[in-house]
Amino acid sequence: MKILVTGGAGFIGSAVIRYLINETEHSVVNVDKLTYAGNLASLGQSAESPRYAFERLDIADADGLNATFERHRPDAVMHLAAESHVDRSIHGPADFIHTNLVGTGVLLEAARRYFEALPAARRAAFRFHHVSTDEVYGDLDGPEGLFTEETPYAPSSPYSASKAGSDHLVRAWHRTYGLPVLVTNCSNNYGPFHFPEKLIPLIILNARAGRPLPVYGDGGQVRDWLYVEDHARALVRVLEAGEVGETYNIGGHNEHRNLEVVERICALLEELAPTHPEGVARYADLITYVTDRPGHDRRYAIDAEKIERELGWRPQESFDSGLRKTVAWYLNNDDWIAGVTSGAYREWTERQYGAPPGSGTP
Ligand SMILES: NC(=O)c1ccc[n+]([C@@H]2O[C@H](COP(=O)([O-])OP(=O)(O)OC[C@H]3O[C@@H](n4cnc5c(N)ncnc54)[C@H](O)[C@@H]3O)[C@@H](O)[C@H]2O)c1
Repeated sequence: MKILVTGGAGFIGSAVIRYLINETEHSVVNVDKLTYAGNLASLGQSAESPRYAFERLDIADADGLNATFERHRPDAVMHLAAESHVDRSIHGPADFIHTNLVGTGVLLEAARRYFEALPAARRAAFRFHHVSTDEVYGDLDGPEGLFTEETPYAPSSPYSASKAGSDHLVRAWHRTYGLPVLVTNCSNNYGPFHFPEKLIPLIILNARAGRPLPVYGDGGQVRDWLYVEDHARALVRVLEAGEVGETYNIGGHNEHRNLEVVERICALLEELAPTHPEGVARYADLITYVTDRPGHDRRYAIDAEKIERELGWRPQESFDSGLRKTVAWYLNNDDWIAGVTSGAYREWTERQYGAPPGSGTP
């Protein structure tokens, strides 16, 4: 297949592209606006493959998308482009509405227009895979219960509300227009190439620099963690074998309190990076409690039984093995980290491609 991947310069999209190029025969067209969260350096060698192409584009640009569909004539879309950071959505929801809602609507229309003009055999094989989050389900009360594919939507933040809206749009395009869609809702991802505004990379980098390790509220929020490469494999499995119109929840069976995650990272750093920053006796001494995020969901946990039963997917990494790999990766990839933390990747992007389309900034 030739797969049009949106958001392929992001954390999960780049893992999907690395997997598609390195482990399958599929071709990829990466459609990405390269916002602050998009970093082409995360693609590594896979971007040099003859099976890889890149289009810098805002998914809310209908003309640009129509031309891209015509130029590349893909067999499938994997839609990952999104504004994805909950804290940013609280401070500035407009970008989330633009990309997650308007952008998804524009992409659906471009895909529909292209799909409807395909010859019958290609139309029968075409797929539109929408990648979403478990945050659309809101939060769970207490330690019992899991999100299933039937759990009603109850999003709490502007981020999760915009993702919930995009899920509804995708299902409506299936029901109303017959677009052959697949939807996946996944739990929290972690792993290499994760932008350091998110909990796990933030804690690793702050600890190494001797900076405070911020923990929201009492640190008791529970998240279900999945190693990003397990997510990438699950997504490709759903694309290849999932039933049209179906939703699949993806999770790692790895529920942990945020404070416990921070403590585990500190313990791994004691082992893997025993030389502390000046003035720090133990990494865990840097843990600092900060005011909780407004509307902060307490617990997310995924029931991933359906994808396991129907498609035979299971995560390969445990939280112990995945977290160890992740900490080791951040200890050994100073170039990528320096490019991100210094902003050099943005300077490179702007030299190469100019400011993000539609941003109006130099
Ligand atoms: N990170 C998680 O834990 C997690 C969990 C479940 C689901 N998801 C979903 O997976 C998807 C990818 O998440 P991520 O963590 O890789 O996000 P990310 O923020 O790391 O990457 C998003 C990518 O989308 C691009 N993008 C943003 N706006 C765009 C636009 N208007 N047009 C084109 N490209 C645009 C960015 O440049 C970036 O490359 C998102 O849809 C997210 O909701 C994420």
